[in-house]
Formats: sequence, structure tokens, C-alpha cells
Amino acid sequence: MQPLEGKKIVLGISGGIAAYKCAELTRRLTERGAEVKVVMTKAAKEFITPLTMQAVSGNPVAESLLDPAAEASMGHIEIGKWADLVLLAPATADLIARISAGMGNDLLTTVVLASEAPIAIAPAMNQQMYKNIATQENLATLSRRGALIWGPAAGEQACGDVGLGRMLEPMQLVERCITLFQPKPLQGKKIAITAGPTQEAIDPVRFISNHSSGKMGYALAEQAAQLGAEVTLISGPVDLATPNGVQRIDVLSAEDMFDEATSRAQSNDIFIGCAAVADYRPHAIAPQKMKKTVDSDEITIRLVKNPDIIATVAALSENRPFTVGFAAETQNVEQYAMDKLHRKNLDLICANDVSQAGIGFNANDNVLTLFWKEGNQHYPHASKMLLARAILEKIETLSTHKS
Ligand code: PMT
Repeated sequence: MQPLEGKKIVLGISGGIAAYKCAELTRRLTERGAEVKVVMTKAAKEFITPLTMQAVSGNPVAESLLDPAAEASMGHIEIGKWADLVLLAPATADLIARISAGMGNDLLTTVVLASEAPIAIAPAMNQQMYKNIATQENLATLSRRGALIWGPAAGEQACGDVGLGRMLEPMQLVERCITLFQPKPLQGKKIAITAGPTQEAIDPVRFISNHSSGKMGYALAEQAAQLGAEVTLISGPVDLATPNGVQRIDVLSAEDMFDEATSRAQSNDIFIGCAAVADYRPHAIAPQKMKKTVDSDEITIRLVKNPDIIATVAALSENRPFTVGFAAETQNVEQYAMDKLHRKNLDLICANDVSQAGIGFNANDNVLTLFWKEGNQHYPHASKMLLARAILEKIETLSTHKS
């Protein structure tokens, strides 16, 4: 059986250059079993023809709110009711603004208003338009109301700019549709995840930190939410958007992260420590900016150990969550990971070799080996998003087996 068998998807196309990718998107969706009905805005027809979309979807394209034939049967209400998913791709800044404002001034916006199906928005626009506070606030409003925001991706744009604003590729959108309709094995589970680096202040302007981007932890949070979990993400300072449906708590230092994590651990079923927590912090934070001295070429900063978050969680005697750690190693990966698994009393540890370029810290991909008391499993080079899903599936199996 195809993964989208029997799923009814309304593809809403608005007027952006990425509209040309909609023929490919529709083909890939229908190949996987979905039935696709296309609704186009007036501007969308400047970028791709209704005839093309009719040919690839196998359904007539709905274009006008004031089409007497379609509206004889209240077309916009019918299409909205028919949908299992309304996918807006590409969603221009204008379409996003109109939906956010609850407007119904063309067929597509009325379909959105009239549908109870999930709404997925794939933004596509110039990077400056995407960054604009109005667009950001409109997306935040829609996300708060439950809309799924898929993308955008970063890269070179049709206008020559480089930045965030490219529509996700058709296959990435197809994968999100498949995930959306998959069974939700983590439904009813609460998961706390730490992510990103910590910053340990030296004085008001300097700190000690590391190269963690947060991508691995955020991928886990996004995938866990998609699998139905209630997710709390305790995040160090990173430059990433909060995944849909995830509660995010921002912290700076290891001690802040310790407080937020340990106070929540017992109300969660699963705890994942993916953050690169600084092992040491300066003994004291200088109250004023430290000045360069003329009489010495050296400076000594005394460091003291930070509390170990994951070991504290794993040592809980009551309401202990299933506890998963990471091991970032540059040598003897298996030996050090096994040592951490036992020493910190973890249920599972995900080991990565952070000495290799293109994986580990600040990369989109990773290579992982998972170790638990009775076994291990290697996951070769893949995107952090795919690996996050594999980790969560393993956690689901091991934690169900344990309880
Ligand atoms: O953020 P990215 O750029 O995507 O990179 C991902 C990653 C490399 C940061 C991630 O995959 C990873 O390996 N995270 C753990 C990094 C780390 O601190 O590893 P560690 O081997 O030093 O620590 C072992 C475990 O103890 C980790 O689960 C860590 O969160 C935890 N720890 C460490 C120190 C401390 N004081 N408290 C902790 O809870």
C-alpha cells in the first residue's frame, strides 16, 4: 500500500516563482497514492498554467471564487470539506498575510477558512520579505493557531539574493505529508530534550562555549512532535526556529539548563540530553569587562565543574524518565560511549564522532551508533532529521519493552 493511499490533498498555489515546482510535487504526491485537487490564485497562473496542473493532478483546477458553475454547489465549502490536508505551496508573503488576517477575498483563502483539515504552509519568497517582522508575526500567528510551517530552506534565490526563503523541494514536502499521516506511536508521551550549546560567562562581554548549532536536538524535537509526543525543548542559544507544536525554554548557562531540565524531568516519560553542556564554568564572573594588562602576557581563569544534568536525571529514584544521552567523542568512540552509558546510568546513548568534517557539530548530517545495555546499532551517514526519527523509534521500542 502506498503511504498516501486514499489521502485527499488540496494543493493551494500562490504566485511565486517556486510555483513551477508544483507539477513535480503533484506527480510525487499522486504516485504515492494521494488524490490532489489544485486551487490556484490569480497570480499563480502567471507562473504555471491550470492546464498543466489539471494534467498532472487528473482533476479540474479550481481558480475562481466567482465561478457560477462551481459555486452552484458551494465549491469553496465543498473543496474545504473534501480535504484531509490543505497544502499551500508556494505560500507567498501576501497569501500568508491574508490567511493570518482571516481574509476570504479569493477562492484559496475561502477554502482555507472553510476547511477543518490541517493547513500546511510552505513559505517561498525573497529572504528580506521572509525576515520582515510582518511576515514573521503572520507565521507565528498561524503556527499558534495550529498551522504547520514547512520550511523555508536557505540558499540562492531566483532574485539572486542568498538566505532563507526558498520553498522546500517537492520530495521534502512529500516526506512531510507522509509523516503527517503516519500513525503516532509517541501519542500521549511527554518528552524533554536539551539542545544546543551553553554559554559560561567570564565577564559581561565574554563567555566559554562550543560549536553546537542545536540542529540534532531540534531535529529530535521536531520528529518527536510529529510522532505525537508533547515536547519540551530546553535550548541553549541557537539560531533555529522552534519546531511546530514544541514548547521551547531558552537558557544560557549549564546551571540554567540544569535547573530547567531537572525541575521538569519527573513530569516527562522520556528525557534526551542532546545539548553540548560545558563541563566547566569560570569560578566567578567578573562584574566588569576584564581589562588587558600591560605587565603580563598571560591570564588565568579558574574553572569549576558544572553539575551533570543527565546523570542527575538518570539518578532519580522516583518518576525517573527513560533517559537518553549523547556522547560526542573524537577518539575511542565506542569505549568512551559505553563508559558514559554505565557511569551515568543511562538507558541509551547515541555516540557520534565529532572529529569528522560534515557530521557532528554544526552539520546537517550525522553518523551515529546507539548503545544500550543489551545491544547496539549503527546508523550510517544520513540527515539529522532521518536519524532523529530512527533514534525515536529505537527509544519507543526500548522504553515500551522496559515498562
Ligand atoms: O548541535 P549540533 O550542531 O547539531 O551537534 C550535535 C551534537 C554533536 C552536539 C550532539 O550530537 C551531541 O553529541 N551532543 C552531546 C554533546 C556532549 O556534550 O557530549 P558529552 O560526551 O560531553 O556529554 C555526554 C552526555 O552528558 C550528553 O548527553 C550531555 O548532554 C550530557 N551532559 C554533559 C555535561 C553536563 N554537565 N551535563 C550533561 O547533561
